[in-house]
Amino acid sequence: MNDRIRTDIAHNARVWNYWLGGKDNYPVDRAVGDQVTSLHPSIGAVARADRAFLGRVVTQLAAEAGVRQFLDIGTGLPTVDNTHEVAQRVAPDARIVYVDNDPIVLTHARALLTGSAQGATEYVDADARDPEAIVKAAAETLDFSRPVAILMLGILNFVLDTDEARSIVRTLMAAVPSGSYLVLTHPTDDPELGGEANAEAMAFWNANATPPITARGRADFASFLDGLDLLEPGIVSCARWGAPRAADVAQYGAVGRKP
Ligand SMILES: C[S@@+](CC[C@H](N)C(=O)[O-])C[C@H]1O[C@@H](n2cnc3c(N)ncnc32)[C@H](O)[C@@H]1O
Repeated sequence: MNDRIRTDIAHNARVWNYWLGGKDNYPVDRAVGDQVTSLHPSIGAVARADRAFLGRVVTQLAAEAGVRQFLDIGTGLPTVDNTHEVAQRVAPDARIVYVDNDPIVLTHARALLTGSAQGATEYVDADARDPEAIVKAAAETLDFSRPVAILMLGILNFVLDTDEARSIVRTLMAAVPSGSYLVLTHPTDDPELGGEANAEAMAFWNANATPPITARGRADFASFLDGLDLLEPGIVSCARWGAPRAADVAQYGAVGRKP
């Protein structure tokens, strides 16, 4: 076993996997996952809505916008319909780079590296707080003179300082040309999306699990997309992006295009 893997404390990637019905988790992850569910009963629905959003957005970007390059930061453990599978189903020549810093995601990375022969799929073990290193490593697989869709789903919530999170996004978006996209999801405590439940659940998480997490309101979420043109329907619950009749979950989703 990778000696960075800790089985005595719950880890986000493994608990997320548990909420999605996966098997790549330990008793400590299931115990914390169940406690969080008791405080925030729709957390499983949030995780499923987030993955369904990923599927709709990647399909739309590949099929309608012609995007052929994807940089998925905060990949998570392999599950059904990973980014490369969704993108290469539409465009077998699509190139995908995954980035995560969790050692257990690294041990499962080979399951992510099964892309089509025409395209490319790579995994980079790196921290989102070092966007320059991510761009440098991704440039071995992606052509940064052509549009790239950068996915940051459920990860900026682990960068607790909002200025730092904005700076990470700005550095990444500065590295890609016009016609590139930023795809975001982020948990919120905004009451209009039912986010009140996040406060107690996140306090419990931060006392018992890793890494520490924060929710953000609409204005902070919107600030990550400053300077980009928002695709319809703008900033909504990720459940309703591309699925207008779905019920809201307390997780924002949006897609911005670099003009
Ligand atoms: C909530 S999961 C989301 C997974 C996937 N993006 C999704 O939406 O289903 C967040 C992922 O971000 C990763 N992560 C958290 N902090 C990170 C950091 N500073 N650098 C890189 N990855 C990080 C975790 O290991 C985890 O796999």
